[in-house]
Amino acid sequence: MSEQPPAHPHPAYPVGLRLTGRRVVVLGGGQVAQRRLPWLITAGADITLVSPSATPSVEAMVTAGELRWERRRYEEGDLEGAWYVVVASSDSEANDRASAEAERLRVWCVRSDDADAATALTPATGRSAGVTVAVLSTDVHGRDPRRSAAVRDAVVEGLRDGTITARQHRTRAPGVALVGGGPGDPDLITVKGRRLLAEADVVIADRLGPRDLLDELPPHVEVIDAAKIPYGRFMAQEAINQALIEHAKAGKAVVRLKGGDPFVFGRGMEEAEALAAAGIPCTVVPGISSSISVPGAAGIPVTHRGVAHEFTVVSGHVAPDDERSLVDWAALARLRGTLVILMGVDKIGAIARALMDHGRDGTTPVALVQEGTTAAQRRVDATLATVAETVAAEDVRPPAVIVVGEVVAVAGRPAADPAVNLQ
Ligand SMILES: C[S@@+](CC[C@H](N)C(=O)[O-])C[C@H]1O[C@@H](n2cnc3c(N)ncnc32)[C@H](O)[C@@H]1O
Repeated sequence: MSEQPPAHPHPAYPVGLRLTGRRVVVLGGGQVAQRRLPWLITAGADITLVSPSATPSVEAMVTAGELRWERRRYEEGDLEGAWYVVVASSDSEANDRASAEAERLRVWCVRSDDADAATALTPATGRSAGVTVAVLSTDVHGRDPRRSAAVRDAVVEGLRDGTITARQHRTRAPGVALVGGGPGDPDLITVKGRRLLAEADVVIADRLGPRDLLDELPPHVEVIDAAKIPYGRFMAQEAINQALIEHAKAGKAVVRLKGGDPFVFGRGMEEAEALAAAGIPCTVVPGISSSISVPGAAGIPVTHRGVAHEFTVVSGHVAPDDERSLVDWAALARLRGTLVILMGVDKIGAIARALMDHGRDGTTPVALVQEGTTAAQRRVDATLATVAETVAAEDVRPPAVIVVGEVVAVAGRPAADPAVNLQ
């Protein structure tokens, strides 16, 4: 049996289309359109959808004004003035006619139902780190879209998690990124944070946060422990600000890696202001705050239907009777919801007493979660009345998140969905 000659004897030619304001016609409003439309919208195309029906997501794009919808079947002439056509309807006869019109008008046309009949191919596409990754199979004997998607996934994933470090050359500006590193588990940093870390020349890190990630940095990256920056006549925070400014002024890409979120008891704004005053560009990358994630990792939801409709995050680093305290403990004691206390281990006795003195019941459940999301995580339960002695007896130490409220008891109940894995 002789082998069939390939439908197209040459590989497709890759290209990037500039579609801003240019007419693009999409035939069919189903799943394929739903997948293709967001990229066309991002590219600024002037999109007309021709289709008797559309998925709810496609309809939502129409409602948002991102495209026009002609609610009908394809008609000859629909492609007039188009630069690009996506044929993706379930009506094969309409697809053939539209494809023939595109050929006649010399408009590039992709077809979801018959790639061989198409004049253009949609690559497997992904975006990260300021680049678009587009993968086309070059095998003229047959396309392999799954392989293209797998290559795309591998490259995008690598760029996101920093295992592929393609440094930016033209657009990489020196400056500082204030990166929230999450509560400690290295998998809980954001994709953007991880990428910036992989591109850094200098990393100034706190004691809390995903310290394991620092081991993965290439040897040329200078890692500075913020706690060890000498501060001489400066306060510690001013010395850190100064170090950030000096490294950035030396043209380095600096990452200030902080635990949790930079703006939750993280002094992130002080650093951002110091950088702004010095004229240094600063990017803030939010992080997963321990205030929500650490209770969650220990099986405690900070809200729960029918139990708590609010949660309040408060610092316990100064005692309630300390004149420097900015917290209205009497008001907090009147709340029925969840109280999440950070930096409160040392002062928990005084805090519990203040809450009870102002009316919160001594039987209110309390949980302390120490070193949450790390291998050393541990949870200790008590009540407001017993928490001080429990902390001493169990030798609970910082860092710990303290949760006060009925949500602590919810966690003791069997999970509604056994598939929910909390760790
Ligand atoms: C200076 S605050 C920084 C909070 C951080 N910016 C955030 O959003 O999570 C430090 C406090 O956060 C809490 N904390 C941070 N990471 C923690 C962890 N992995 N386990 C328990 N508590 C943690 C502790 O209460 C600790 O004393």
